Amino acid sequence: MLNIVIFGAPGSGKGTQSERILEKYGVNHISTGDVLRAEIKAETELGKTAKGFIDQGQLIPDSLMIDILAAKLDSFVGSKGVIFDGFPRTIAQADALKAMLNERGQDVTVMLELDVPEDELMTRLIKRGIESGRTDDNEETIKKRLKVYHEQTSPLKEWYKNDGKHCYINGLGDLDRIFADIVAAIESKK
Ligand code: AP5
Ligand code: MG
Repeated sequence: MLNIVIFGAPGSGKGTQSERILEKYGVNHISTGDVLRAEIKAETELGKTAKGFIDQGQLIPDSLMIDILAAKLDSFVGSKGVIFDGFPRTIAQADALKAMLNERGQDVTVMLELDVPEDELMTRLIKRGIESGRTDDNEETIKKRLKVYHEQTSPLKEWYKNDGKHCYINGLGDLDRIFADIVAAIESKK
């Protein structure tokens, strides 16, 4: 089982590189942001709750997010492994993911930290906001998302270093070069 945590600030390229990883390795992909946006689109109760948090650039409460993740994980049959994109985002989520995988006789194989300077993140997300209209891709909400990332999510770098899974990836520049670095990191840990 190849369980990959793809990690980084908003706009660091988690979704973009996940597509390439799943194509090469044939693993499943869970983007918790995509799951929540689908619920919002379908106007479910969960979607209504999620929208309030997402539009404020805040995280959905851990207990809710962990239940959603567990249900999604259980929906995969005969999986070769999973890319976790946008999860975990808090220490509580990282603890829960480890427990969930351990219960299934698995663990995280590698945690890929995509590192991108803040001015580039802002440029990418403003551009995407104009092109795709994601409601949280506006300057005010992006600033809030970055603050939440620094305060609640970036401590996970140390968490995964302590767990022996952390790999640093320079996420600035050419997509093919970044992907080549990702493949090298995956191969070094699997
Ligand atoms: P989520 O959907 O996960 O958003 P995010 O983390 O803010 O990240 P993005 O999806 O915006 O960026 P990305 O890293 O995937 O980059 P991408 O490849 O798209 O979460 C949204 C919200 O949902 C959260 O704020 C929270 O409210 C909630 N949520 C989600 N998960 C949660 C959790 N676990 N717990 C609690 N709440 C949760 O690339 C960005 C842009 O840059 C694209 O336009 C792309 O084309 C471009 N690009 C990519 N790579 C490059 C490159 N190398 N050079 C130039 N441009 C590039
Ligand atoms: Mg994404």
